[in-house]
Amino acid sequence: MKNFQLQAKILSQTKIKDNYWYCELSAPKVAKNALPGQFINIRVSDNFDPLLRRPISIHGVSGVKIKIFYCVVGKATEILARKKKGEHLDIIGPLGNGFDYRGNIKSKGQTILIAGGMGVAPLVFLAQKMKPSKTLVLIGAKTKKQILCRKEFKELGCIVKFSTDDGSLGFSGRVTDLLKAVLAQGLSSKIFACGPAPMLKAVTRIACENNIDSQLSLEEHMACGIGACLGCVVSTKSGYKRVCKDGPVFSGQELIW
Ligand SMILES: Cc1cc2nc3c(=O)[nH]c(=O)nc-3n(C[C@H](O)[C@H](O)[C@H](O)COP(=O)(O)OP(=O)(O)OC[C@H]3O[C@@H](n4cnc5c(N)ncnc54)[C@H](O)[C@@H]3O)c2cc1C
Ligand code: FES
Repeated sequence: MKNFQLQAKILSQTKIKDNYWYCELSAPKVAKNALPGQFINIRVSDNFDPLLRRPISIHGVSGVKIKIFYCVVGKATEILARKKKGEHLDIIGPLGNGFDYRGNIKSKGQTILIAGGMGVAPLVFLAQKMKPSKTLVLIGAKTKKQILCRKEFKELGCIVKFSTDDGSLGFSGRVTDLLKAVLAQGLSSKIFACGPAPMLKAVTRIACENNIDSQLSLEEHMACGIGACLGCVVSTKSGYKRVCKDGPVFSGQELIW
């Protein structure tokens, strides 16, 4: 897989709510080669604080532009949010293996995209490649206020359902319980998921019980981001695999939780 290190010009930087930001970057080579599920590794500072690059999913591609969607959770994302339009970011990408979405257009059943919290970030780009009428998106959050990207999925024409822990929007309970209810109706052929590890573990179990393929994007802590340090390994049926290089997308059947 080809990747590039480049200085990407910030074309826009928009706070959408609370700590959530959209950022558009001019990165022609990355845009041309990016697949849904891949990420960029961003150096947010010219000095050594923070030392490490930070991985952020590619949220969308339009011409020479890539879009990212991020949440400010610590030092690097705080620095990132202070960057202004016209400044440049040192990025490497596209990195990792993306989702294998071939077959969605021709498949008989619907494809389910399931996201917990920031897990929506790579799934919007994936939804752009899907046949909307056959794509059901399940978005889970603690409360209605924390449901992300509902407008984007709806604008793409996907069918969207919600779950909230407090019942303030849609299904009351976990998004994996909503998944069980959806699967009980049949007609689903594949699941793509991104979110916190406990959610992904539950998705794997439910997919296996229903004999459905699942692909999961893991958000492991990373150091080098290019497969050199083994700081991000996970256990799979074919041995340890690096999330940054062999993933971040893995087949649910392959992972050992
Ligand atoms: C492949 C991949 C894609 C990602 N895509 C996105 C994205 O599109 N948008 C987005 O907002 N974030 C994404 N992340 C998470 C993002 O990399 C971290 O939030 C970021 O590195 C935090 O840096 P920081 O210095 O601001 O916070 P830190 O000070 O490093 O961390 C702040 C808090 O966030 C937790 N945290 C940091 N990194 C991770 C991680 N990888 N997984 C779980 N918890 C973490 C820490 O444990 C800590 O509690 C992705 C991570 C991976 C591995
Ligand atoms: S972060 Fe270094 S091998 Fe993955």
